[in-house]
Amino acid sequence: MRKKFKEATGNTLAPLRPHLKWLVVGFAIVISFGSILYTNSLVEQIRDREQRQIEIYASSLEFLANESENVNFFLILDEIVAANHSIPVILTDENEEPEDFRNLEKAERYTPGDDRMNFLRSEIQLMKEAHPPIEVTLKDDQDNIYGHKYIFYKNSFLLNQLRYYPYIQLSVIGLFGVVIFMVLNYIKRVEQDRVWVGLAKETAHQLGTPLSSLMAWSEYFKDLYPDQKEALLEFDKDVDRLKVITDRFSSIGSEPQLSLVNVADAIDEIVIYLQKRLSTKINMTVSTFPNREIDGRINPSLFAWVIENLCKNAADAMEGKGSIHISILRANEGRVAVDVQDTGKGIAKAKVKNVFRPGFTTKKRGWGLGLTLAKRIIEQYHQGKIFVKHSEINKGTTFRIYLNG
Ligand SMILES: Nc1ncnc2c1ncn2[C@@H]1O[C@H](COP(=O)(O)OP(=O)(O)OP(=O)(O)O)[C@@H](O)[C@H]1O
Ligand SMILES: [Mg+2]
Repeated sequence: MRKKFKEATGNTLAPLRPHLKWLVVGFAIVISFGSILYTNSLVEQIRDREQRQIEIYASSLEFLANESENVNFFLILDEIVAANHSIPVILTDENEEPEDFRNLEKAERYTPGDDRMNFLRSEIQLMKEAHPPIEVTLKDDQDNIYGHKYIFYKNSFLLNQLRYYPYIQLSVIGLFGVVIFMVLNYIKRVEQDRVWVGLAKETAHQLGTPLSSLMAWSEYFKDLYPDQKEALLEFDKDVDRLKVITDRFSSIGSEPQLSLVNVADAIDEIVIYLQKRLSTKINMTVSTFPNREIDGRINPSLFAWVIENLCKNAADAMEGKGSIHISILRANEGRVAVDVQDTGKGIAKAKVKNVFRPGFTTKKRGWGLGLTLAKRIIEQYHQGKIFVKHSEINKGTTFRIYLNG
């Protein structure tokens, strides 16, 4: 229970953000759907109105035509459709041959003749697919049907615009959102960078002064108490370690220098150091493939920090007993792969994606910064990659690092 609690609270930075993200995404989806539904209902209403308008036109036509013979349909069309400046209409005879049209700008551009007729015929086919034509029945005085006319029509430009408007609007807003998101992300990264670098520089700077004075004290005491040399050598070792730490902080606070070094040699050195400090029940081994001559571009002091962090995590996961195996492999494209494999308790699948997040820890006394730092060192300072290559509960975990050769 206690552990669970730790898991939940240790992860202080992480849990809020994904929720907030989903809340924003959910809100955006609701707004998008709402806006599309609302415009769709507007489109429906306008479509109905346009259809009614055409029907009124048709029945007026019918009425006028049946009132008197020899009625001039074109005149009627002009009179009635004059009120309508937007719905494209074609009036045809019984054989669907165009007789007149309105609100078809494209057709106006053709000079009257075959071309225009052909255009109108193809337009009629398109209009047919959109709406069935309205039939006008022509009757004489005795109510005998003597002919038909058809009115073809399609949605007005306004209606079409309205139909696509929400999609265009949402795409523009979406694009805007993506740009804002990228800018904010960039600002956040720049700020984080500044904090990291500033803090590291300041730490290195602050440690520098007492460190030089400690070294001076050591020399002074060696002269003063020659019989205490042994103890003072141990003291020197600790001072050296502090120097290494200061050096790391100062490297992370400035543009680190990379050099081409034999990765196996660098790792051997780290393993020798770690072996002395980790439990004796932890067996550390190193292997290389295809041979030991594998050079990688690294900053040895920062790279050591990464390997140390990985090995410490491995030791924690094994609760002081098990083996850590580091393999150095020549990978393709001139890269070098370094695998750090342990026989520890493994990482649950759902947590794998969180391990590099700042603040994510499952340990009582963990800061959840070890892997964040490792990722930063490998990816930003070495232009490499680090990820969980494999992990199985109660079997072990393998972290992989790619370095440039
Ligand atoms: N080899 C591993 N096996 C199992 N779990 C691991 C391993 N490496 C990391 N983890 C998990 O990832 C978490 C984050 O590791 P990270 O090194 O970033 O922080 P931490 O070790 O908890 O704290 P610290 O800041 O002191 O390193 C760990 O708490 C642990 O749950
Ligand atoms: Mg750690």
